Amino acid sequence: MTEPTGLGALASVIAHRGASGEAPENTVAALALAADQGAKCVEIDVSISSDHIPFVHHDDTLDRCTNGSGLLSEQSAESLDKLIANKGNEAYAHEPIPRLAAVIDLLSQRNIGLNLEIKPQEGLEHDTVEAICKMIESSWPTGLPLVFSSFSQLSLELVHKRLPAIPRGLLVEELPDNWMQLIERYECCNLHCDASHLTSDQTKALLSHGLGVYCYTVNDVDRAKELLSWGVHGVFTDHPKVMLDSLTS
Ligand code: G3P
Ligand code: MG
Repeated sequence: MTEPTGLGALASVIAHRGASGEAPENTVAALALAADQGAKCVEIDVSISSDHIPFVHHDDTLDRCTNGSGLLSEQSAESLDKLIANKGNEAYAHEPIPRLAAVIDLLSQRNIGLNLEIKPQEGLEHDTVEAICKMIESSWPTGLPLVFSSFSQLSLELVHKRLPAIPRGLLVEELPDNWMQLIERYECCNLHCDASHLTSDQTKALLSHGLGVYCYTVNDVDRAKELLSWGVHGVFTDHPKVMLDSLTS
């Protein structure tokens, strides 16, 4: 397994929302477990509280992953701090929704790279990007890999303007016909896409443009091997240990 290098390089195996197949997604526990299992890079989703503090959480609403309900963006940081993000898993009965600051602390201590997916609630793109950028400027350790990505093109545009030196990945489900135009517009060095749609010809085209290519969410080892054999640089997986063990053996 060759590890990717250069601008926008993450890792061949990226823990998707942490080791989210074994611990509650996007929690410090899931991220620490991924590090324990040997992952060199993790992916997280980030949005903001009503008082503009960045929190690591996938959905707009709190209902699926926590003991709260309603929109995350309508609750203050103080009230979000009181919630448990264990999805009913009693082994993680005290696991909070992490603030981005806590996750950065962990990743710095463990020397783990990050794909930070900007996940703004619609209409909150400016505030979300600003809050994330402030936190990254003040706390992200230089030297550790960091790539921003987002399905929200407005967020990519804003983060490109705000922190142009941090590499960006265009995040899509299927590769759109105008991918080259979008890559140029936001000066992305990576393309992150849904593995189930990607073809080998598309991969060739992306690689010939010098892009880093990363696919989500790949939990099947044979599919990961196939994608990597095409030249895909890395896969986001919920099971980093299984993937690392299989790809390095
Ligand atoms: O960033 C890769 C992947 O996480 C995108 O989809 O819905 O899991 O955030 P989602
Ligand atoms: Mg994500």
